[in-house]
Amino acid sequence: DWNAGNVIAEQIEAIRKQVGNARVISALSGGVDSAVSTALVHEAIGDQLTAVFVDHGLLRKGEREQVERDYVASTGVRLITVDAEDIFLGHLAGVTDPEEKRKIIGREFIRAFEKVQLDLVAEAKAEGEPIKFLVQGTLYPDVVESGGGSGTANIKSHHNVGGLPEDLDFELIEPLRALFKDEVRAIGRELGLPEAIVGRQPFPGPGLGIRIVGEVTRERLDILREADAIARAELTAAGLDDTIWQCPVVLLADVRSVGVQGDGRTYGHPIVLRPVSSEDAMTADWTRVPYDVLARISNKITNQVPDVNRVVLDVTSKPPGTIEWE
Ligand code: XMP
Repeated sequence: DWNAGNVIAEQIEAIRKQVGNARVISALSGGVDSAVSTALVHEAIGDQLTAVFVDHGLLRKGEREQVERDYVASTGVRLITVDAEDIFLGHLAGVTDPEEKRKIIGREFIRAFEKVQLDLVAEAKAEGEPIKFLVQGTLYPDVVESGGGSGTANIKSHHNVGGLPEDLDFELIEPLRALFKDEVRAIGRELGLPEAIVGRQPFPGPGLGIRIVGEVTRERLDILREADAIARAELTAAGLDDTIWQCPVVLLADVRSVGVQGDGRTYGHPIVLRPVSSEDAMTADWTRVPYDVLARISNKITNQVPDVNRVVLDVTSKPPGTIEWE
């Protein structure tokens, strides 16, 4: 029978064996997978681990604070934050193809880590141990969908699996590779992480970069961040966090439609709400969110977010739609 305590004990032993006295850095993304995998590795090897959080400018409102403040407080993990917004947005300028966005974001992630690695190497050398390992919060569904599990077709190159460059000079530690999301949450709870982190809905590594259909720009990110924060707050206030697996909020940046707001005609962008129910993200159904909740979200977004004059609901299951739009 599956038991979180047993999995933790096994993984701790496996991690210690794999790592020895070497030093490890961890890809902390703000999501539950990397939060739990990092906490697990920290449990195994303590301060041999340094967690790195890359602020790529594609985060949701409040996410950086949640990592820097709440996560560090609950785990005691040593954390380095990298400010990389300008670098990421520079590389994403002019790019509209979803796979290309994913590859760029995945590649720049690794570059950011390698930069931090250089800084840490000197320190590690002084202590006599090199940094050889990188922690990744890869789950079983990521492995399967990236074609790494059973030879299935590559549906999307999840950046934590398929987007890694060939010349990566870390060995990976992926303690969640055999697990589904609910199992990861159970492990997080067993490790004593706060509910706000463990219960957090999934958020893709490429962040808001794959929730803007069209080119990713700072202005568009600001628009999407506001709309996303409104939708999340309303869904939480309506008590729907347990019903909804996740609710991507998507900006159709290349689409405009005519509206009327205040005294005048507008020509703005639609926001798509994509609430889904799922067990493991492999399949999903669209969540029947009550109309009054949808109405509140729509009113608030169109009243408060500049350049958005329409809110639409995605009523597609997976398959045929994926959960994310890109
Ligand atoms: P899709 O859109 O493929 O998403 O139905 C399935 C689940 O995976 C998340 N997702 C990602 N997670 N890196 C991640 O860590 C990625 O590149 C990525 N792409 C999608 C998505 O939010 C959903 O939970």
